[in-house]
Amino acid sequence: MKTKEEIKKEIYSQIKEYYNLYLSSKRDGVPVSGKKYDEEEIMSIIDAALDGWWTEGRVTEEFEKRFNEYLGTKYTIVVNSGSSANLLALKVLTSPKLKEKRLKPGDEIIAVAAAFPTTVNPIIECGCIPVFCDVDMETYNINIEQFKKAITPKTRAVFLAHTLGNPFNIEEIKKECEKHGLWFIEDSCDALGSKYNGKRIGTFGDISTFSFYPAHQITMGEGGALCTNNPLLSKIAKSIRDWGRDCWCGTGQDNTCKMRFKWKLGDLPYGYDHKYIYSEIGYNLKNTDLNVAIGLSQLDKLEEFVRIRKENFNLLSEKLCKFDKYFYLPRAEENSDPSWFGFLITLKENCNFNREELIEYLNENKIGTRLLFSGNVTKQPYFIDNKINYRVVDNLTNTDKIMKDTFWIGVCPLISRKDVEYVVEKIGSFIKEH
Ligand SMILES: Cc1ncc(COP(=O)(O)O)c(C=O)c1O
Repeated sequence: MKTKEEIKKEIYSQIKEYYNLYLSSKRDGVPVSGKKYDEEEIMSIIDAALDGWWTEGRVTEEFEKRFNEYLGTKYTIVVNSGSSANLLALKVLTSPKLKEKRLKPGDEIIAVAAAFPTTVNPIIECGCIPVFCDVDMETYNINIEQFKKAITPKTRAVFLAHTLGNPFNIEEIKKECEKHGLWFIEDSCDALGSKYNGKRIGTFGDISTFSFYPAHQITMGEGGALCTNNPLLSKIAKSIRDWGRDCWCGTGQDNTCKMRFKWKLGDLPYGYDHKYIYSEIGYNLKNTDLNVAIGLSQLDKLEEFVRIRKENFNLLSEKLCKFDKYFYLPRAEENSDPSWFGFLITLKENCNFNREELIEYLNENKIGTRLLFSGNVTKQPYFIDNKINYRVVDNLTNTDKIMKDTFWIGVCPLISRKDVEYVVEKIGSFIKEH
């Protein structure tokens, strides 16, 4: 009989052959984002599949440990998407376990309107009021003057994303959060690998979140994570992620508290099975070991991916600055070292062409483009149709400009120096024609 290792070796060599023949082939055009992988990720999934476990298990545990080591956080909780991580982050802060610090309906939470919708939606979901600040042109991050103006006695939290990997002004935000006793949540979904004052993004807030969708610095196919250094927040997050249960046994474990049939909680009878006692309003936001196995393999490549992203960004900056008559080009926030998600371009006021003409031209030439997410989220149909209650601090002048004149192009590790040169050449030929 063949041993497990012998069979695995055969499977591995066939995967490698398959990958080389059918998956590694050259793509067409310059993608805006996309996953970079090789046979190792597929082998990692197969390895997890051969455990016969499939739900959250040893692979997730290993990923969480390694992610903590990478970031320098105490607790990482893997979930099934960045959006789930954001939802979980805010739901955690509504827990009665936080007593008077818990978020309640009507509380105000500071955000930006130039946002990905699922950074804003959890605020609405919790019955809180998003208070929108404008962003600065070129960094695309929150305007600090408006941020300070936004704080009122009703303010309870700040929930911001590091826009396209560019860390926002953490120093000022954290200072105000500490001064006013506000929760601080860092949506780091686009910023894995970015640093601020030499420290990794995702380690500054009470809670941070990450996405592992294929466009991001590493992928799990689908996946996300919530990180914190606070043991109580971590405990609540795990419970809400896992149906709201009070029991903290891992999947497949029983009675780790050694008193499974001895609890008396709520109005339940004494001895009610701890596995079925729920102390939070929960969901099931878990991921599977199969997805997380991809992430585990990708973690080994993260530093290299970040290096290529930075290199592509710098090359684009260097080569596109000759067009600064037409474009606002992106700028890293002070004291930061971004792991860029994309390269943002905003058309200047005096341009003799519009964004749609330019992005149509680029797409015709097989150069992928994206907009800065929802532009101004308050103008999205779901905001209007649901009559969502929100407050604007002052004005959203730059946000509205971004909605009209901004787009981004890729810097992901699939993009080579030659691709960057092609993109620059095409932008140049478009400008010449106009
Ligand atoms: C800033 C930000 N937050 C949250 C998300 C949601 O992540 P996911 O697609 O994994 O749900 C994204 C998605 O790209 C994002 O850019």
